[in-house]
Amino acid sequence: MTKPKLSMKSKLAQQVYDQGYCLLEGFFSTKNREKIIQILYQVWVDNGKPSMAGQFGYVLHPVLEFAPDLAPFYAQPEIVDLLAEVLQDEVRLAHSGAILCNETRSFCDWHCHLNGDRFNQWYPKPKNHHGVDRLLCNVYLHGSNSTTGELLVYPRKITDSWDMPFDNLLIEWQGQKIITCTPGSAVIFDTALFHAARRPTETGHRYIWGGHYQGKSNLTRHREDNWFQSPLIEQHRRNNPLFASLTDMRIPSFS
Ligand SMILES: [Fe+2]
Repeated sequence: MTKPKLSMKSKLAQQVYDQGYCLLEGFFSTKNREKIIQILYQVWVDNGKPSMAGQFGYVLHPVLEFAPDLAPFYAQPEIVDLLAEVLQDEVRLAHSGAILCNETRSFCDWHCHLNGDRFNQWYPKPKNHHGVDRLLCNVYLHGSNSTTGELLVYPRKITDSWDMPFDNLLIEWQGQKIITCTPGSAVIFDTALFHAARRPTETGHRYIWGGHYQGKSNLTRHREDNWFQSPLIEQHRRNNPLFASLTDMRIPSFS
C-alpha cells in the first residue's frame, strides 16, 4: 500500500505560516527598481512635492490611479505563484499602494492590516481559523537598513492569537525582528503580522511599493480594498495576461 503524499510547502511559503512573513532578497533588478522609483518620483513632483513626513510619509492609495504604468510590475510569476501557494487559491490584487518618505518621517507606529472598520481595529479571529486570508507584498525600493529606517516585525505563527502583544505602539517591542534587506527586496506578509519602522537616520528618499492579495474564492471585503479603472489600465490588462488575471475579478464596489 502506498503512503498518501504529503503536500510539501515551499520553504518561503512555510516561513509565512511559521513566522508571518518571508523575504525575497533583491528580487527586483536594478533596472526595474530604478524604473519604478522614477515613476513614483514623477508622481511626487507632479503633485507639487508633498511632505514625506509623519507616520508613513506621502501615501498613494490606489497607486494605480497615480501611476498606472506600475501595472506590469505587479505581474511577477514567481511572486504570484508563492502568494497562490500561501493563500491556496488563485490570486487577485485587492489593493495597490505606495509610500514615499524621507528623513523627516517619524517612527512608524506598530500596526497590522487585519480586516476591520478602522485602522488598527479588527474583527475577532474566528474559532479554528488557521489559514491566511490576505497577504501583503511590499517592495523596499531603497532597501531596509539603518539609513532608510529598518522594517520591524513581530513574528507570529498562523495559529497564534491576533491580540496586540504590547500596548505602546511607539516603542520597540521585545521579541521584534529587525529586517534588513537590499534595495528591490520584497517582503510578503500575513495581514496579522504586526510591523513598524524605525525613523531614517540619513537624508534621502525611501519608497515602498506593493499591494494586498486575496484568493479569488475569498470575496470578503476589506477596508483597504481599492481599485482604479482607466483606459490605460485596460491597455495594460490587454498587454499583460498575468496582470489581467490578477485584476479580472473585483469586489462589487470596485467593479
Ligand atoms: Fe503596514
